[in-house]
Formats: sequence, structure tokens, C-alpha cells
Amino acid sequence: MQDVAVETYNDKVVRQFTIATIVWGVVGMAVGLLIAAQLAWPSLNFDIPWLTYSRLRPLHTNAVIFAFGGCGLFATSYYVVQRTCQVRLFGDKAAAFTFWGWQLVIVLAAVTLPLGLTQGKEYAELIWPIDLLIAAVWVTYAVVFFGTIAKRRIRHIYVANWFFGAFILTVAVLHIVNSLAIPVSWTESYPVYSGAVDAMVQWWYGHNAVGFFLTAGFLGIMYYYVPKQAERPIYSYRLSVVHFWALISVYMWAGPHHLHYTALPDWVQSLGMVFSLILLAPSWGGMINGIMTLSGAWQKLRTDPILKFLIVSLSFYGMSTFEGPMMSIKTVNSLSHYTDWTIGHVHSGALGWVAFITIGAIYNMLPRLFGAERMYSIKAIDLHFWIATIGIVLYIAAMWIAGVMQGLMWRATNPDGTLTYTFIESLRETWPYYVTRFVGGLMFLSGMLLMAWNAWKTCASGREIPQVRVPLPAHA
Ligand code: HEM
Ligand code: HEM
Repeated sequence: MQDVAVETYNDKVVRQFTIATIVWGVVGMAVGLLIAAQLAWPSLNFDIPWLTYSRLRPLHTNAVIFAFGGCGLFATSYYVVQRTCQVRLFGDKAAAFTFWGWQLVIVLAAVTLPLGLTQGKEYAELIWPIDLLIAAVWVTYAVVFFGTIAKRRIRHIYVANWFFGAFILTVAVLHIVNSLAIPVSWTESYPVYSGAVDAMVQWWYGHNAVGFFLTAGFLGIMYYYVPKQAERPIYSYRLSVVHFWALISVYMWAGPHHLHYTALPDWVQSLGMVFSLILLAPSWGGMINGIMTLSGAWQKLRTDPILKFLIVSLSFYGMSTFEGPMMSIKTVNSLSHYTDWTIGHVHSGALGWVAFITIGAIYNMLPRLFGAERMYSIKAIDLHFWIATIGIVLYIAAMWIAGVMQGLMWRATNPDGTLTYTFIESLRETWPYYVTRFVGGLMFLSGMLLMAWNAWKTCASGREIPQVRVPLPAHA
């Protein structure tokens, strides 16, 4: 019993991942801002090969999704699983390996992508040796997470862990299946799939990366941090279970909406469209459950900027999961595909949902992790919220207008069947919107810098790094 009494949570790895989230968030978004600037002012690549748009774009997506989002998911899942299972994380060394292994993946990505070393598959660009390292880290992550669940002291598995668990398992399967390739040198390989099958596997991966990396894991964050910050129980436990099973079973089939009007069989495209439309329901189940958790406590939104981040993230989640199913309708997609509308959709999900919920969760746990009473400056959090929100609105509104305009210009024809506009004309018309997006991005990045400063001051104001004890079981 003595052992139980002195057991503490493994928060060291949580602290490391939390700091890494902020650092990579700033870096990844700075690269995003640079490529946004390059689209408006192309000479900003300075004719240096590794600064070209084509190489920096995948660096941006990898940095924000896997470094910023990934570290945020590691940090929160490790924090949440320990507290909801009331047990120390399984395997200290394994957990440390996930941290250092994941940082190595990020650094290798940051070196190879600007060098032009890539497999050319979106969100799965990294070359095969890095893929192997990712697989090793991810399997270890699964061992740590499910090992903790296995030795839990609370019988019930809290719903946040269901979402984290689904995210970890599915990403392992997606990554391993989509990365199967035959190496021909240290930097080159050929995928084992070919033609339309290769495309289908890639977008089965790609869409489920959205569904499980950018959604299920962040719903796990939502289910813990929203009730905690609002100090209310989750609105409906039953709804959480129903929308969990619906979400994970429907997401798997929606991938073909990325391949409308391609060589993919027509019925597969239609199937993807139908599943995407159904996906609206389980997605909104999660949004409603999160937002309604605040019922009876709405006044807290007026004074608590952390709650603002968390709740507004859910509104953006609802918005992008309404927009997504609409864009998956083939006739709508014939207008939106290849245009900046897609980029607007991506960033309403990425900035509004993914980044906002992560930021809210970090503001919630950072003081607890570093022994401070609260964040150093609450005013700075409020300011962060407002500049980031205005930044997102500028970004996505600009992309929506630009996207619809491009789609309409590209399809306009004269009575004799020739195109009304040249491509360059559409580009010229898009320019002001690229500048507006740049300003929006700049505001969002400024907010992240403010957060980094606030986090720094909070860590410095902490008395000593706390060793949080695992509560004694009721019968002890
Ligand atoms: C300051 C913030 C950000 C800025 C300025 C920014 C800017 C950009 C730009 C300029 C592109 C390329 C668009 C194109 O090719 O036309 C892009 C793509 C992308 N960004 Fe961001 N971004 C930011 C934050 C984020 C975050 C936080 C995430 C994810 C969590 C994200 C995810 C993506 C994805 C997935 C794409 C590829 C979209 C596609 O292929 O359709 N971005 N971003
Ligand atoms: C019900 C939920 C959703 C559905 C049905 C959906 C549907 C779609 C559709 C139809 C496209 C355009 C495909 C194309 O024309 O190429 C798309 C693109 C995309 N969506 Fe969503 N979306 C949903 C939610 C989200 C969320 C919440 C996020 C982010 C957090 C997101 C991230 C993306 C990304 C990154 C792309 C660009 C993929 C690429 O690189 O081409 N989506 N989505």
C-alpha cells in the first residue's frame, strides 16, 4: 500500500510535449505565413531551391499537423489518460522514447522536405526510413496508452480515452498500410500499389488522417477539457457513445470524395459522397455535446477566455463539418475542387477547430503542470483569442470568396465554346485575397507568439515543478 501512496503522475513527458506543441506551432505557422506571402509575392523564394513553395508547402503541412497537432495530442492524451484512470503512465522509458523519437521525426522532416526528398503523397511525404521511425514511435505510443488503460484503477473508461484510443489505433493502421513501399535507395522507394488503387489507398489514408488525426484525437481533448474548464459534467454521456461509434464507422468510407471526377470508378465516388453526407450527423453530435455542456453556465463565456477558445473551436468544428459534406456533393465539388475554397475549408477546420481546442487545452493545463496558480496574464489570453479569431475570419472569408470566384471564372465559356477568362486573369483577381489571407495568418501567428510569451512567464512564475500524486483508491 506504501507504494500506492507515493505514486505520482508522469507529467515530465506531458510538460515536454506541451512546450514542443507551442514551439512547433510557432514554427509551422511561420512557414505557413511564408508560403502565404510567396503566393502573393512569388519572388520571396529568393531563387533558393529549398525556399521554393513546392518544398515549403509540405513542410508547413507536416509541421502543423504532425509536429504542432501531434505533440498537442501526445501531451493531452498522456495527461488525460493518467487522470481519468488514476494511475501513472505505463512505461516511463517507453513514454520518453515517444517524445524523443517524435522530435527526431520532426527534425528529419524539417531537413528532408526542403531538400526535396519526398514520396510525393500528400500528408505522407516523408521518405521510407522516416516512415519506419514513425511506425516504431507510434506502436510504442499505443503500448504506453493502452498499457495505462490496462492498469487503470477506475473501472469505467472515460469517453475521452475512447477517442484517443481510436485515434492511436487507426493512425497506426493508416500509416503502415499507406506507406508500404519497396525501397530502391536510402531516399527513394516505390509504393506497392499502382494507378487508381494507389490513389484510393492514399485518400483512404488522407481522409482518415483528417478523421482520426485532426478530429477523433481532438474530440478526446474536447471531452476532457471542456467539462473541466466549464466545471460542468458532459452534457450527454449517451450521445458521446452513440456519436463515437457512428463517427468511426462512417469516416472510413468517405475518402473517395477527394477523387471526384478522376479514374476512380464512378460508383466509388458516389459512395464516398453518400458517406460524407451521413458524416454530418455524428460530427454535429460531438459539437452539440460539447457546446451544450455549457448550458446553465453560459455567463462563464463572458469572463473566461480559455473557455472562449474551447467553445469557439466547437463552433468552427460544426461549421467545417457542415461545409465538408456540402463540398463532397459531386456538383458542388466540380466548382470547389482545385480552388482556394478547399484551402478555406481546411483552415476553418485547422485553425478554428484543431488549433483553438489545442490552445484552450494548453492554457488549461500549463499552470497545473508548472506549479503556477494560473496563466501569467489572463488579459493576454483574451487578446490572443480576439486577434486569432479575427485572423481566422480574414483567412477563411478571403479563401471562400477567392475560391468561388476562381471556380466560376474557370468554368465560364463564351457562346463559341472558348474560355471567357485566361488562367492568369483569375490569378490577378485572386491577388487581393492572398494579401488578406496573409494579414489573417499574420494575426494568427502573432497570437501564437503572445501565447509563447505568456507560457514562458507562467513557467517562470511557477514555484517548483509539482509531483502530482495519484489519488489513493477508495478502499485504501
Ligand atoms: C498562421 C497560420 C497559417 C497560415 C498562414 C497557413 C497558410 C497556408 C497556406 C498558404 C497553404 C497553402 C495553400 C495553397 O496551396 O493554396 C496552407 C496549406 C495547408 N495548411 Fe495551413 N496555414 C496556417 C496554419 C495551419 C494549421 C494550424 C494547420 C493544421 C492544423 C494547417 C493545415 C494546412 C493544410 C492541411 C494545408 C494543405 C491544404 C490542402 O492541400 O488542401 N495550416 N496553409
Ligand atoms: C464531416 C466532415 C467533413 C467532410 C465530409 C469533409 C469533406 C471534404 C471535402 C469534400 C474536401 C474537398 C476534397 C477535394 O475537392 O479535393 C475536403 C478537403 C479537406 N478537408 Fe474536409 N471535410 C470534413 C471535415 C474536415 C475537418 C474537421 C477538417 C480539419 C480539421 C478537414 C480537413 C480537410 C483537409 C486538410 C482537406 C484538403 C485535403 C487535400 O489536401 O486535398 N475536413 N474535405
